[in-house]
Amino acid sequence: MDTSFQRLELTLKRPLLVPDELHRNHPKVHARGPEHTGSVLMELVVERLGLKDLCDVDVLDVGCGVRFTQALINRDIPIKSYTGVDVYRPLIDYLRREIDDPRFSFAHWDAHNAMYNPTGTKLTSESSLPIAGTFDVIWLFSVFTHLEPADAAAMLTILRRHVRPGGHLFFSAFLDDAVDSFEDRIPEHPLENAYYSERSLRALIVAKGWSVASLHPKSPEQFIQHYFICGPTPPDATTSS
Ligand SMILES: C[S@@+](CC[C@H](N)C(=O)[O-])C[C@H]1O[C@@H](n2cnc3c(N)ncnc32)[C@H](O)[C@@H]1O
Repeated sequence: MDTSFQRLELTLKRPLLVPDELHRNHPKVHARGPEHTGSVLMELVVERLGLKDLCDVDVLDVGCGVRFTQALINRDIPIKSYTGVDVYRPLIDYLRREIDDPRFSFAHWDAHNAMYNPTGTKLTSESSLPIAGTFDVIWLFSVFTHLEPADAAAMLTILRRHVRPGGHLFFSAFLDDAVDSFEDRIPEHPLENAYYSERSLRALIVAKGWSVASLHPKSPEQFIQHYFICGPTPPDATTSS
């Protein structure tokens, strides 16, 4: 029921004003506004997965950064739940402190990444996420773009345990078929640009229990590199075809 008290409460809701040092996007993307780029990407998910909106969707966002939370809160975008995981503790501490909404939860994961968390614990297929449960949609924007193959393999294995039957994995990656299988393109800046050939990344995805539903070209106007949409391969599926 939309009472005048509820309307007043909505009007007075405090916007999430994220300190600049916690933003995780490329400066050119950040300059377009986190609420804007975050909304565009969530609309892309909704459209590509054939959803009406995120009202009935439990989302897991690994390598969450802040912009999706900022867009969801400041634009009042409906979502069933949003669970964000990141290796950057100050950002998780900030979100936990600032967001008082039972639909949102955040967890720090001390996973090693040469660019983002060089002192973290190396991921293996036995590593666990710092959260429990399964999700309708797991998304990772601009995260595989910074993962070396061993970490990409471990990540795909770990995430497979958290997707519901009929759920989806949505992630962006740098693809270049001129690359043999993997290239860390700027060696002096480890994992700033982690490029895969389509063949090698597809092979990894399939080997870790996922089926590729579709692969889409990069779309600068939607602020995204190439992106894969995958579903869980049922455990008993044979590879006879
Ligand atoms: C380029 S930022 C993108 C942030 C967010 N996904 C977005 O699109 O706004 C990459 C994020 O991934 C996080 N990250 C890198 N490696 C990770 C890992 N192994 N597990 C979880 N988060 C990771 C970084 O801390 C950083 O916040």
